[in-house]
Order: sequence, then C-alpha cells, then structure tokens
Amino acid sequence: MSLKYLSGFGNEFATEALPGALPEGRNSPQRCPYGLYNEQISGTAFTAPRHSNRRTWMYRIRPAAMHGPFEPLAHATFHGDFGHGPVTPDQLRWNPLPMPQAPTDWLDGLYTMAGNGGPSAGGLGVHLYAANADMDGRFFYDADGELLIVPQQGRLRIATEMGVLEVEPQEIALIPRGIRFSISLPDGQARGYVCENFGAMFKLPDLGPIGSNGLANPRDFLAPVAAYEDREGSFELVAKFQGGLWRAAIGHSPLDVVAWHGNYAPSKYDLRRFNTIGSISYDHPDPSIFLVLHSPSDSEGVSNIDFVIFPPRWLVAQDTFRPPWFHRNIASEFMGLVHGAYDAKAEGFVPGGSSLHNSMTGHGPDAATFDKATTADLAKPDVITDTMAFMFESRHVIRPTAQALAAGHRQATYQQCWQGLARNFDPSRRG
Ligand SMILES: [Fe+2]
Repeated sequence: MSLKYLSGFGNEFATEALPGALPEGRNSPQRCPYGLYNEQISGTAFTAPRHSNRRTWMYRIRPAAMHGPFEPLAHATFHGDFGHGPVTPDQLRWNPLPMPQAPTDWLDGLYTMAGNGGPSAGGLGVHLYAANADMDGRFFYDADGELLIVPQQGRLRIATEMGVLEVEPQEIALIPRGIRFSISLPDGQARGYVCENFGAMFKLPDLGPIGSNGLANPRDFLAPVAAYEDREGSFELVAKFQGGLWRAAIGHSPLDVVAWHGNYAPSKYDLRRFNTIGSISYDHPDPSIFLVLHSPSDSEGVSNIDFVIFPPRWLVAQDTFRPPWFHRNIASEFMGLVHGAYDAKAEGFVPGGSSLHNSMTGHGPDAATFDKATTADLAKPDVITDTMAFMFESRHVIRPTAQALAAGHRQATYQQCWQGLARNFDPSRRG
C-alpha cells in the first residue's frame, strides 16, 4: 500500500488516524478523545519568532515519559567525539563503508566519520550507515541534533511518532530532534549518509533575485500522516544525549500517536525534483546555487551547515571551463555520491564513497577531468545525466574521527589524482 503524505515545508499540519481524535478549538481539553494523552513537543524556544517557531501537539496512547530508567549503551562506531588534537589539512577520500556480515540494524550500523561542535555548541556530525536488519522492537531519538538522512543504497521505511516515511536513494529524510523512530529495510539491506545538525533547524534558503520559485520547492517536501502502533512488548528505547547513547526498557511502542497537529514533524524530499539553476552565458556559478537546505548560524549569510547537491544538468557556458573549478574555501566540505559519477572526478569517487576537503585545503577537478574539459567542444551543450552527488558544508573545520582516518576503506593515495596535472606554463605563448 502506498503511503500518504502531507505536502509543504514546515507547514502547520493537522492529521488524525481516527476520526475526531484531534480536539477542536483547544490543544489541551480536560479529557482528550478516545482516552488519549495530549503532549507538546517544542523544537524551538517558546518565544522564538513566529516564522521560526516550531512545535507539535500529539494525542497519544501513552505519554513519552513512560519508560524505564536510562543506562549507558555502548556503541563501537557511533558517537560525538570529534577529537581535540591536530587535524590534518590533507585532502581525504574513502571508499564505501563495507556492508556488515552479522545482522546489523540501522542504529547499530551507524559509523561516525567526522564532525565539529556538539549539541550545546552547534556544528554537525557526519555519519555513514550500513545495515542489513530491521530495528525490531528498537526505537531511537536524537536529542543532540536534527537528522538529515541521505540513502545511497536500499530503501528505508522510517516509522516515526508522526507517521511513516519511506525513502529511497536520491530522496532524503529529515527527522527533527527528539522525534522517536524505528527503521526497517524493505530491500533487506541499506547504506547511506547522515548529517546530524547540532545547530538551528534546516530551512529552505532565501532565493534573492532567483525570485519566488526555484531550487527546492516547498511543496515537494512531504510529511507523514498520523499512523499509530498499539503494541506492547519488551522493547528498547535508545537516546543520543550529549554525545553518548543511552538505553531504557519500554513496554510499548512509543510510536503511539493517534493524531497530531503542528509544524515540528519529519519530512522527506526527492532530490530529483530540485530545480537546478546554472549559467547560460559563461563561468560556473558558486556552488551555493545548488543549495537545498541550510542551517543558519547567528552570522548573516554564514551557515552552520549547507546541504548542497550536484544533480543532473546541462552545461552550456561558452569560453568556460565547465566543471567545478579549482578552489579553496573558508568553509569545509564533506562530499558523498549517491548515484552515478561526479563531474569533477574521472575515477575513484564511487557511489557510497566520501571525501573531505577542509578549510583552505586546495582541491578541484582531477587531471583527467582537467584535460577533458580544456579540450571539450564548447559549441555543443553537454548534459550530465544519471548522477547525484552532495555536500555537507560547514563554517567550521570538519574533524575526521580517529576511526575514519584509520579505516580500511580510506583511500591512502587520493592526492595522486592531482599529481598528473601537467606544467603547461609557457611565457612565450599567450593564447
Ligand atoms: Fe569544494
């Protein structure tokens, strides 16, 4: 059965799985319909300006407070420790995270690659996941950050307190802080990327002179309709709190919200719906033209996180080096590839792979891409099809974790991709 969704980004939604489960005219009646408990979850300060104020009222079988005491939960590869020592300014690249051999659910399959800051400071965590089992009777919430999940292989069925999202590669899911969920794998296994946003909630960028439409359009973001589990058993509730994991026994599914209304809810978005804008004259615009979502900082125009994609597009610019140019940025860039090939790298950056280019570290097209682009016939437009790369960009250095630097899937020879760039300089030849 195909799932139903509510359309719009950060909209004020109202949805009920049983008729009349939402109280009318008030949020907190003396007794709620169907014997439900009411509960508010606030994702922003109570007094945040109206345009950024996010909260949701839930009408549920049991309040979220009902569970056993939390105790620390060990997790070998998922954490919030980005180190404090020196960080290499080297360009870094990795092959895909190997699929697990033993049964591993999405939560156990998380692997922390890099990050900065923390839940009290802003910043981001960058994680990968590789999983081959459902979260059976396990429920998770992240109090530290909003989760941006980027599937690369295999669909995810994400059952949340607000209802069910199903996402496939080239789609993304956004799960706000604190929302409880459980992930199952319709395809038996799955792999992808997670950006944990410790800062302000992701929002759509302002469009400036682009106008009132373009880039990611709000109506393409889809929130779930209310769907509840009325299920009892010996279950586990896992929380990520202040960088560590905690577990508590819970005797029922916490996904027991029969109705909800508000604007603090998970959502999904199909990256293939991105309205890609680029040059139709000359030069490649700054990659901010590919911005899908950003987490603003308190400095205007400077993001805590930019989520940028490199989707299929036409390249028509004249007298122009058409791929992304060589560059160094104040920002730091973690890249992943969901599908196909990335146009600035001829080889080595494969779907499921990752790269990290930190602040002021030089990078750009590899030697093969440079040679091809500088001899291309610009009379013809070029079309890039069948691709979907992305970037988590941050204003602060993205610190690779010790396990990522030591990982077997790290490419030790990544820097070689630029060593073949020829010395072309000839002071006697201007043209
Ligand atoms: Fe870059």
